[in-house]
Amino acid sequence: MNNNFKKIYENSIKEPENFWREISDDIFWFKKPKKILNKSKPPFYKWFEDGITNTCYNALDIHIDGGRGDKTCLIYDSPITGNKKQFTYKELREKVSKFAGALTNQGIKKGDRVIIYMPMIPEAVVAMLACGRIGAIHSVVFGGFASNELASRIDDSKAKILVTASCGFEPGKTVEYKPLVDAALKLASHKIEKLILFQRSGHEVKLNAPKELSWEESLSGAQNVDCVEMNSNDFAYILYTSGTTGIPKGIVRDIGGHIVALKWTMKNIYNIETDDIWWSASDIGWIVGHSYIVYAPLFKGCTTVLFEGKPVGTPDAGAFWKVISDYKVKSLFTAPTAFRAIKKEDPEGKFFSKYDLSSFKSLFLAGERADPDTIKWAEKLLKVPVIDHWWQTETSWAISANCTGIEMMETKYGSACKAVPGYDVKIIKQDQSLAKPNEMGDIVVKLPLPPGTFPTLWNADQRYKENYMSNYESYYQTYDAGHIDEDGYIWIMSRTDDIINVAGHRLSTGAIEEVLSEHQSVAECAVLGIADKLKGQLPIGLVVLKSGVDKDNETISKECVQMVRDKIGPVAAFKVVIVIKRLPKTRSGKILRGTIRKIADNVEYKVPPTIDDPAILTEIKDDLIKHKILDNG
Ligand code: COA
Ligand code: AMP
Repeated sequence: MNNNFKKIYENSIKEPENFWREISDDIFWFKKPKKILNKSKPPFYKWFEDGITNTCYNALDIHIDGGRGDKTCLIYDSPITGNKKQFTYKELREKVSKFAGALTNQGIKKGDRVIIYMPMIPEAVVAMLACGRIGAIHSVVFGGFASNELASRIDDSKAKILVTASCGFEPGKTVEYKPLVDAALKLASHKIEKLILFQRSGHEVKLNAPKELSWEESLSGAQNVDCVEMNSNDFAYILYTSGTTGIPKGIVRDIGGHIVALKWTMKNIYNIETDDIWWSASDIGWIVGHSYIVYAPLFKGCTTVLFEGKPVGTPDAGAFWKVISDYKVKSLFTAPTAFRAIKKEDPEGKFFSKYDLSSFKSLFLAGERADPDTIKWAEKLLKVPVIDHWWQTETSWAISANCTGIEMMETKYGSACKAVPGYDVKIIKQDQSLAKPNEMGDIVVKLPLPPGTFPTLWNADQRYKENYMSNYESYYQTYDAGHIDEDGYIWIMSRTDDIINVAGHRLSTGAIEEVLSEHQSVAECAVLGIADKLKGQLPIGLVVLKSGVDKDNETISKECVQMVRDKIGPVAAFKVVIVIKRLPKTRSGKILRGTIRKIADNVEYKVPPTIDDPAILTEIKDDLIKHKILDNG
């Protein structure tokens, strides 16, 4: 039994205010909070509400004040372009405070929104921190999203400025950002005031002054600016994530709780000290990138790696080992899919043996379920603990994990370990009663959520309340289902809504269905996530055509695929659309998506008693076999 962990965990649940008060002493406050938790308006809890602080101060200035300004804080490595750069805390602050001045010159003030649509380059980190410095709210949009998604984020956030770059690099192709941005700006009904674009060397694009200016132009005449004082409950950022409809949810993060919680996690979950080199191989467009490329390691004062490459193809399956060896990385955090990709290309670990990985101490996986095969393969190769942990954009840090900085726990393959201090995780069964150990149900977290989680949704208090906080009174509904075993280990089995996880990227099948429904020949459709060995899940579309359509099925399928690529983006990895005669439905007209998914995944299924015509299931199975989604027999 882990007494140390157990004691800390129980304390966090029984005495959350004392627990977090003590931890909050570890960050810089212009004014320390006296009120630790305001519980007067559930489910809208407020942590540290009278505290005054600043995100950027806690990421950069505090370390310089503490005499560590010459320590490397950011290592940038771009295997495609061959660019490598390192920045000390002082150097990064210089860049950030100057760009903060540039934003100020463009009229950005406290509370204004700035969209950042950029590849994995240091300027993206600079832009994020510069927003924090002057109290602007950033909203980073992942580069793999199409113009339509960017436009919906511009409209919802009502951003004043969009910061972008001329291009990004993917294996084998250059992603031109400017045409995507131009299309988004046309689509958006809200009009941004200015566009600032970072020109990548050799890939400069034409800008239309005065509304569009280059990063360099924006810096000319800019003064270095200091950190402004921010209320703890002001927002640091909005990060949009897939919701149960096509309209993305604007997850917001308040400033004080975010700094307190994230800084604490670096030592307690990841066992990282200030002198360590840490690497999160994700993208700043995702929550893992926000929290663990940028904020948590900088709050902690350690060194973080920004890698503009992929696990394979940049140039080979040894890319991760090279980075670990070159920079003496202590721990890596990535998605299981990255390891599946390496395993697929280099199952024997031939590339691995070329590098010295003596610095490497642990691997953390999250974003999707880590399958035991991948964990065991990685353990065997790396000979370090491989830790699966579970979290969400909503929480910004792990809900369950092996808290290696507190006490190393035994691995149970397939489980994301135990609830982290601060999270009182329960399972609720269909009859609304609490589950006993090993009983399946909805995974919920007792309110209040700990600091650093989401206090609301951007401009959508009601949606926050209805969506997450109403189905089970006094609990946050995670929309994950699973069970907790007799030792307190949490097993995440599936989502309970329409979210699927494609290569660690969270997507809504509902949003893809909305796009398919817009095709003029499509009468109705269903999009399902089917199991995929590399990406975990892949979306496929089943469409039923309107009567009288005379286009051939192949053309319609291709058009549908292209529409999803254009409207959602390549990241959806949407490549298969099958035209079918009809969809299986209940007598009340609900499409039986769960049953179709089971058929596609070749797992046992029961014919639902409510189905209007069971013969449709055989038709679907035949169609899936015909399109090689399912093996014959
Ligand atoms: N900007 C523009 N396009 C992007 C992009 C970005 N930042 N990231 C991905 N894309 C594009 C890819 O180029 C690809 O386009 P294509 O259909 O034209 O080939 C498409 O989106 C799908 O990309 P990806 O998911 O990267 O699939 P892949 O087959 O190219 O690579 C993996 C597979 C496993 C190597 C890759 O998914 C990976 O590295 N995953 C790591 C997981 C991760 O970082 N998750 C984040 C949450 S922790
Ligand atoms: P995102 O908000 O993109 O981080 O996606 C969050 C969702 O990813 C969760 O609700 C889970 O469904 C899934 N997820 C994240 N981590 C894990 C994990 N370790 N095991 C199983 N599912 C996970």
